[in-house]
Amino acid sequence: MRFTALTLIAAIALPSFAVADSIDDAIKARQGYYQVVKHNAGALFGMAQGKIDYDAAKASSAAKDLAALAHFGNDGMWPAGSSKADRPGKTRALPIIWETYPAIGEKVAAFKKAATAMAGSAGNGLDALKADVSALGASCKGCHDTYRAKDF
Ligand code: HEC
Repeated sequence: MRFTALTLIAAIALPSFAVADSIDDAIKARQGYYQVVKHNAGALFGMAQGKIDYDAAKASSAAKDLAALAHFGNDGMWPAGSSKADRPGKTRALPIIWETYPAIGEKVAAFKKAATAMAGSAGNGLDALKADVSALGASCKGCHDTYRAKDF
């Protein structure tokens, strides 16, 4: 039996999403993305603050994952119609993200720069990690202050 592209497509059951669902899915995806960001950045913040024992291998691994996340092209997670004004109670993403786009790119660039620096230094001792941690924390806060609401 010869499988053509058409029979293959027919054989795969593709779920169909309503538009509202796809917007809610995008919101959930970006919030999940930021949870992974927090998981890795949190380990680095914890070590810098002495709340977690410094471990070079763990620090390096967290910082490398964070740098990969910072470079993640997540444009599809920010569809029009997914701001806090459109989906109150579901997202903290402020409408200004879309109104002033691509200005938010400056904040993404600061995050990329800080995460890349951290990926290079986190495994080289606690002092090296500490030297880059302020810029990393500032890159999160810098974006949240302008683009993320305090409440959902
Ligand atoms: C370019 C902007 C930007 C940068 C940089 C950024 N964030 Fe965020 N973050 C957001 C926005 C916008 C939201 C709200 C997303 C939503 O609710 O749809 C968010 C949400 C979050 C959340 C909540 C996710 C949830 O479950 O609702 C956490 C935690 C978070 N960010 C941590 C961080 C940390 C830690 C950093 C730095 C290492 C960081 N973010 C860097 C913009 C940014």
